[in-house]
Amino acid sequence: MTETANRLPLIGDPAPEFHAETTQGPVHFPNDYKGKWVIFFSHPADFTPVCTTEFMTFASMQEEFRALNCELLGLSIDSTYSHIAWLRTIKEKIEFRNLKNIEVTFPVISDLKMEVSRLYGMLQPSESTTQAVRAVFIIDPESKVRAILYYPLSAGRNFQEVKRLLISLQTTDKHGVATPADWQPGEEVIVPTPGSCGAAKDRVETKDPSVRVVDWFLSFKKLS
Ligand code: BEZ
Repeated sequence: MTETANRLPLIGDPAPEFHAETTQGPVHFPNDYKGKWVIFFSHPADFTPVCTTEFMTFASMQEEFRALNCELLGLSIDSTYSHIAWLRTIKEKIEFRNLKNIEVTFPVISDLKMEVSRLYGMLQPSESTTQAVRAVFIIDPESKVRAILYYPLSAGRNFQEVKRLLISLQTTDKHGVATPADWQPGEEVIVPTPGSCGAAKDRVETKDPSVRVVDWFLSFKKLS
């Protein structure tokens, strides 16, 4: 592969295309997901403890993501047979918190040749040369990369945060606003900062009861 082909996708880039085998049959990415949000994530290996807790958690939230027009797509550098055996073990034997009998129905890519993990910068050689790190790419319905999270092998991800980030992206797209630190859905959002002296004056003097002005550059509003 050329250096250009290995360039990591960055926020705002088109999601790189690939074809892959998965536990649910072949996937042509991102074409198969046009019109939907996708959470595309890697895990280091099947039959490992942290990954098992992550898969159970993520699978248990699948319907919550579907309700947000979002599909899940996993990947590791393991064979489809290994994935199948691991997912069967999870369903038949594993309990974690209040989760048991969890069936993972989202597709899990088998990336034995490491082609997809390289394409998405999921292999970080100083962490591991054989296992993907815990990467999360949030890809929008136009197949554009909108957010990227990277976690090391040792730390399981917070999937409530992944969901919160997805809702933030959907909210800011829909309403042309931004979300503050630790924002939770339903809370006040941030109104765009005025871009001229006149607009700044108008902002601090606004009579709009829905806007809460802290200063000319920091104003909040509640979405109805
Ligand atoms: C785990 O999922 O438990 C794990 C995987 C690879 C390295 C360390 C931990």
